Amino acid sequence: MDSKQVAELSSYYLFQNYAREALCFSHGKGEYLWDLEGNRYIDYVAGIAVNCLGHAHPELVKAICEQASRLIHVSNLYQVKEQADLGEALAAIVPAPLGRSFFCNSGAEANEAALKLAVKHTGRPKVVAARNSFHGRTAATLSVTGQGKYQKGFEPLLSRNVDFIGYNSVEELKAAVDHGTAALILEPVQGEGGVIPASQEFFRAARDLCTDTGALMLVDEVQTGMGRTGEWFGFQHYGVVPDVISLAKGLGGGVPIGAIITSPDIAKAFTPGVHGTTFGGNPLACAAASVVIRVLRQERLVERAAELGAEWKRELVRTVQGHEGVTEVRGMGLMLGVELGDLAKGFQAYALARRLLVNVAGGRTVRLVPPLIISKGSIQELDAALSSYLHGN
Ligand SMILES: Cc1ncc(COP(=O)(O)O)c(C=O)c1O
Repeated sequence: MDSKQVAELSSYYLFQNYAREALCFSHGKGEYLWDLEGNRYIDYVAGIAVNCLGHAHPELVKAICEQASRLIHVSNLYQVKEQADLGEALAAIVPAPLGRSFFCNSGAEANEAALKLAVKHTGRPKVVAARNSFHGRTAATLSVTGQGKYQKGFEPLLSRNVDFIGYNSVEELKAAVDHGTAALILEPVQGEGGVIPASQEFFRAARDLCTDTGALMLVDEVQTGMGRTGEWFGFQHYGVVPDVISLAKGLGGGVPIGAIITSPDIAKAFTPGVHGTTFGGNPLACAAASVVIRVLRQERLVERAAELGAEWKRELVRTVQGHEGVTEVRGMGLMLGVELGDLAKGFQAYALARRLLVNVAGGRTVRLVPPLIISKGSIQELDAALSSYLHGN
């Protein structure tokens, strides 16, 4: 079967809710993917900021195989050693007083849990979120997603209790967060919105306001977490500690898992029966995530993301210089965005024709979120393609 035949089969049997390329991969290794026809691609998408260790990392593969041969799932009716181990590993990389984890299966579920936790902890109904944000597709997370295109057709959702503010507007932040606010939810870098980092002033004001009003500061680290931005977590660029963080994507290195981490005090709001999930924290996903943390440490991939990302950003700025269609290169670590405006989709197609996989966020920005193990050579290949696309050389 070739990629086109898979696309045809999918068109009969699957929901047509994704605008997929007619491209199907059979396997991967490191930053490379191979399609069913045997062509090799360089992957700057990493499953949308998921495959942080690249494809088929031997230690991750070994851990998954070993765990699967022992125990995949038992439910949360029982103690789960791999879950406790992962909680301990996460506690070692977050600042105090964070250190209590709850596990689920995706980013939306993690944010859903964070929102429920904030309402339960504070006894308040209201949530403040940013325009142009993305927090997931469940009813509650869609309600705090500040982009009409995702909400269209599903209104009013839970929007009665959600106020949107301008991302990076301290003024609007101050007007919105008050003593009736359960939570303020923010991404450190808006990913789906187009790789837009929060300003120092905004993030710090957010922390201060939450402290003053008793609202919980929920930081959505689903895309920015696990070393992506050159720190373990995006909030660490701002010198603040949130009340709750949500994680998913990179946490399992490709195995579905989500988490929220908070303080022991706030975690008390979830007493037995208040919140839960059947699959969340299963031995397989937790064993994978523990290995991801170990390998990120062993291979110093967080530091590498910071260094390589800074170098790459400087190079991208040089590459786009002199082209009037390009307004900005943004981002931190290996979460970079090149705003190409109307040219963004064109570059995505141009890159694909050269077997370079990139994707467009926010309609106008080429998003670069490769595996954290990406080689300098692969980075140079992308730069060369961008240069020839823009400057025709
Ligand atoms: C910041 C952020 N939060 C939440 C989500 C939703 O995660 P999931 O697709 O795993 O539900 C995403 C997905 O792109 C995201 O980028």
